[in-house]
Amino acid sequence: MMKKIEISLEHRYHSHRLLHRILEPELMEDPKQVQAYAQADFSEPNERFMQNLRTLIGKEDLISHALDLGCGPGDISCRFAMGYPSAHVDALDGSAVMLDYAESTTPNDLKVRVRFIHGKLPTVSLPRSRYDLIISNSLLHHLPEPQALWQFLKRYAANGARVAIMDLFRPQSVRQAKDIVEMYAASEPEILQRDFYHSLLAALTLEEIEKQLHEAGLNFDVARISDRHVFISGTIIFK
Ligand SMILES: C[S@@+](CC[C@H](N)C(=O)[O-])C[C@H]1O[C@@H](n2cnc3c(N)ncnc32)[C@H](O)[C@@H]1O
Repeated sequence: MMKKIEISLEHRYHSHRLLHRILEPELMEDPKQVQAYAQADFSEPNERFMQNLRTLIGKEDLISHALDLGCGPGDISCRFAMGYPSAHVDALDGSAVMLDYAESTTPNDLKVRVRFIHGKLPTVSLPRSRYDLIISNSLLHHLPEPQALWQFLKRYAANGARVAIMDLFRPQSVRQAKDIVEMYAASEPEILQRDFYHSLLAALTLEEIEKQLHEAGLNFDVARISDRHVFISGTIIFK
């Protein structure tokens, strides 16, 4: 019976070629899931994030306090701290399991500048009231109510703060989502392939992101930067 329902749902997606957003669990707390994610090689997309960030803020070292939202195992928090040696980074995640991993893999010399914070946005209260840079990779698609992220940015951004956010965007069909998983994660453990697939279905479209930003009054750039990634960037100016 279950099988029949799954097949007919999939058939519906195929024939309409319109994929509605299907949420996945917000926090990544299953130790097996965290291990598979933390051990996977995300160097290519993470370096792509850094390249886009450098284009946005330049190489000069003017950032003193950065905030990384949904930092997971901390790879991007550390890449950023290494590239910007004067910056301090507060790296937030709602999953203690993820943060244990981040703490254990962060090089000692970065630990004075990278501080991992356990808490869930939007309710968390951060140790600083304002940040010069807010970054985030692959958090947006986890949020059941994405507007929470846009409002959170406004709450913690300093006047003139730069924002750089990368995420997956939702494919047009189940077939496309499966093809992307096959293309980029065929050799990864099954649990990671499953999570990747669910993340693609939970992701937003570029149009949905643009609409939310408009509603939030944020004049950000929304750019498709690969066959699966969107990069959202801009500056927050208080009037
Ligand atoms: C796909 S991982 C991305 C991790 C990391 N940014 C990276 O680039 O690899 C998403 C992370 O966001 C965290 N997360 C999801 N919802 C959150 C929330 N409301 N507040 C804080 N963290 C959240 C999850 O626990 C998970 O560690």
